[in-house]
Amino acid sequence: MRFIFFFLICVAAIAAKASHIDSIPNQIHPLRPKTGSGGRHLAQINCLSWRLAVETNNFHDWKLVPLQCEGYVGHYMLGKQYRDDCYNVVAAAIQYAKTLKIAKDGKDVWVFDIDETTLSNLPYYARSDVAFGAIKFNGTKFDEWTREGKAPAVPGAIFLYRTLLAMGIKPVFITGTKEEFRKIRIANLKKVGYHSWIKLILKGANDTGSSVTYKSGKRADLVKAGYRIVGNIGDQWSDLLGDFVGLRTFKLPDPMYYIS
Ligand SMILES: *[C@@H]1O[C@H](CO)[C@@H](O)[C@H](O)[C@H]1NC(C)=O
Ligand SMILES: *[C@@H]1O[C@H](CO)[C@@H](O)[C@H](O)[C@H]1NC(C)=O
Ligand SMILES: [Mg+2]
Repeated sequence: MRFIFFFLICVAAIAAKASHIDSIPNQIHPLRPKTGSGGRHLAQINCLSWRLAVETNNFHDWKLVPLQCEGYVGHYMLGKQYRDDCYNVVAAAIQYAKTLKIAKDGKDVWVFDIDETTLSNLPYYARSDVAFGAIKFNGTKFDEWTREGKAPAVPGAIFLYRTLLAMGIKPVFITGTKEEFRKIRIANLKKVGYHSWIKLILKGANDTGSSVTYKSGKRADLVKAGYRIVGNIGDQWSDLLGDFVGLRTFKLPDPMYYIS
């Protein structure tokens, strides 16, 4: 029995070495030790496969980044790949926008989500007690971060915003951020270079239910008011599914959290 146990540990150690899970270069911050009853017995996860499933919306309602993928997601988010992926989405959106015939009545609008689409919370998610979404979300702490009003722009987002404005497409922001943060969000948006929009829609006290329901309702109001949603960009599938999603939708990467 003892021998079998020892043998299994050796196999686990060799497997770990072969897949380099303990030798990731350029660590953002030290991975939490994998000791204790949990670590060694966790199933191996291919973090790239996990991220692909997340981005394609094959995985629904996941709560946390798998602990083993904290380092992977951290390197992805802080490295070149995330930036390249964002710019690639922006390039596709601009290429599409150029094919549109924009009316002169100012009713052609583009819906922008805010968090991880317009403003980035990456400085918050990179904190060691958040660990890129691998540790339980704390709404109080997140609200404190939002109140700081220091979120930078998402890579490429200002470029998309300015390009669309220059084409005569009007921006509309629809965010899950609560109405009480309106002033701080406006200040944050202006600070990083978003200066004009026709609507900034935040979540009011009566906006209950899922994000899909909330955002669909707000888009329905836009359409009722005579606006034409020619494009829609977000980091969550719940920004892009539901009713009146727009003529085309664009999905930015976000392997840090899931909002339904
Ligand atoms: C969330 O963060 C706040 C503020 O730092 C802290 O007081 C609270 O205990 C945390 N809640 C949980 C469940 O960890
Ligand atoms: C929310 O709904 C209640 C009841 O219908 C209403 O009295 C209140 O004005 C609404 N609040 C907002 C912010 O729309
Ligand atoms: Mg978002």
